Amino acid sequence: MNQTDPFYITTPIYYVNAKPHLGHAYTTIAADVVSRFHKMLGAPTYFLTGTDEHGDKIAEAAELNACTPKEYADQISALFKNLWPKLSVENDHFIRTTDESHKKVVADVLQKIYDSGDIYYSEYEGLYCVGCERFYQERELVDGKCPDHKKEPTRIKESNYFFRMGKYQQWLIDHIETNPDFIRPKQYRNEVLSFLKEPLEDLCISRPKTRLTWGITLPFDENYVTYVWFDALLNYVSALGYPHDEKFTTFWPKVQHIVAKDILKTHAIYWPTMLKAAGIPIFNTLNVHGFWNMGEAKMSKSLGNVASPEGLIEKYGVDAYRFFLMRDMAFGHDSNFSEDSIVKRINYDLANDLGNLFSRVVAMSFKYFNGVVPEPDATLMEELTLADDASAALKIFQNEMPLFAFDRALKGIWVFVSRMNKYVDETAPWDLAKDEASAPRLKTVMYNLLEGLRVVAGLISPVMPGTAKTMLAHLGIDEAPLMLSSFETWGVLPPNGTITKVKALFPRIEMKKADTPEPKAAPATQALKPPLKPEISFDDFQDLDLRVGTVLHAEPIAKANKLLKVTVDLGEGTPRTIVAGIAKSYTPEELEGAQVVVVANLAPATLMGVESQGMILAATKRKALSLATFNLDGLKPGTPVK
Ligand code: MSP
Repeated sequence: MNQTDPFYITTPIYYVNAKPHLGHAYTTIAADVVSRFHKMLGAPTYFLTGTDEHGDKIAEAAELNACTPKEYADQISALFKNLWPKLSVENDHFIRTTDESHKKVVADVLQKIYDSGDIYYSEYEGLYCVGCERFYQERELVDGKCPDHKKEPTRIKESNYFFRMGKYQQWLIDHIETNPDFIRPKQYRNEVLSFLKEPLEDLCISRPKTRLTWGITLPFDENYVTYVWFDALLNYVSALGYPHDEKFTTFWPKVQHIVAKDILKTHAIYWPTMLKAAGIPIFNTLNVHGFWNMGEAKMSKSLGNVASPEGLIEKYGVDAYRFFLMRDMAFGHDSNFSEDSIVKRINYDLANDLGNLFSRVVAMSFKYFNGVVPEPDATLMEELTLADDASAALKIFQNEMPLFAFDRALKGIWVFVSRMNKYVDETAPWDLAKDEASAPRLKTVMYNLLEGLRVVAGLISPVMPGTAKTMLAHLGIDEAPLMLSSFETWGVLPPNGTITKVKALFPRIEMKKADTPEPKAAPATQALKPPLKPEISFDDFQDLDLRVGTVLHAEPIAKANKLLKVTVDLGEGTPRTIVAGIAKSYTPEELEGAQVVVVANLAPATLMGVESQGMILAATKRKALSLATFNLDGLKPGTPVK
């Protein structure tokens, strides 16, 4: 693909049975970042999101809320539509499956496939999950339950229309195999190929109106409505005005779909076979990301553990929120969400690294040059230039962004930010300013820093458009639209331009008392001694690696009458040496064979000349120590202690 080719990016269209949460925000912001990146390359882009409004789920939710499905869909769809601008998401279109133009495309495509003979009528008995709105095959269930909703599906028997999906199985396998980028990252491609090793069944694409009326009537049988997935997937082409609109001819099939792994099969199996049967070219790439979890569970409405995007952006600002989401999740893998992790990202990466650098450099420009961009000295430029560091960041950015590896792209930019912070310390402009003879050097140093910040602003702009704009405005640049090409050359910032003073880009977040929940373990009436340490998150606890260790041997350490050198088997092959301060309470003989709790991922430390490779847990009673042990014998060394 050429960088300036038309580029089309889509999110899933979200169900209107629940309010938007962080998971939806992640996918949509990711799509926005990709869209902004392609705009920077100069490509015509089209970015689509929207809502999926038909089906059992919505009908059920509407009934619970005592309104019609359409009234209910209108309300929730608006919540999604109105949220996106607040998250700086600039979608080109917002589709609703209740749009007349969409319904017409669905009917036309169904008719086309029906006429070609790939839709037939038959009786079917199967296992149906209402949550997923689809039939399951036995082999897809986990312990007889839907893997997503953890509920047993219902057995349903009825006459329905079927799409000959199985007919396209071999074609699909071949297509995936000959197009390595069809499903990314690789683990999901492998998952689909392995699913396709078993026979692929035909797909039930209708629901009798006796059971569900909230859907698109089949064009060839008015007693049935269309299965919601067959309806929903077609949004990706109906939104472009399939088949004749210019948008469709321009952007289809140059599309990158983004979905999370929950809807992998529908997008990797149903969707391409539907396109094939309808004679529509197959989409370019399906990009699949992991789940945002809270604690151990996927964040979802039904689990009631959702983090409201509005609440978080109000508290931390939209750019910090976008940065956190893009920086903390490695695309394709799951991530854990906690407010603590947002605060850490803001304080370390944004306030400390970037914000401080920007304020320092702007402040120095005022102090030494009255806010005017200095002219660098050509002869000193070679020695002092930051061009190579900037171009390393740029290269990472150019390589990683097309792969949706936003975390790695940002990491590369932050290497450059750290380099600039170091450069300030190394070149010490405050010393150069003391000496008239160093004026050319000072000018060159400051020019490099200002130019470096210009490049950083450009590279962060897809993720933090507001911050990029503010930074550039303070540097005296009013460039719109931002083109990546202007950040590829070093020395673009015009000397003698005007800089404006800046307040902190990202104020540090103090964890206020109100933000730190009361430690639940501490009874209010009796304070613990020593006092309870601040609460930690489950994630923090997960960082600790506690294991069962079997003591093989122990011996005193010369000149250290409190310490014992203990050899502990953690099941790693080579036993570890751990220095423990328990010599006054335990003899070496007593310890041998004991099973103890070992902090196994503690950084090694040298005590009395012996390297200790972990720590053994114990409690103190007066001056005596009591080791934490187990009341069962024969635990396997290395067993995690949780
Ligand atoms: N309506 C279907 C999609 C039809 S597309 C033709 C649907 N809707 S949904 O509301 O359930 O949205 C699912 C999508 O929301 C996921 O694929 C993902 O993009 C996003 N996420 C919802 N919860 C999420 C997490 N906990 N983590 C990451 N993304 C999540 O499925």
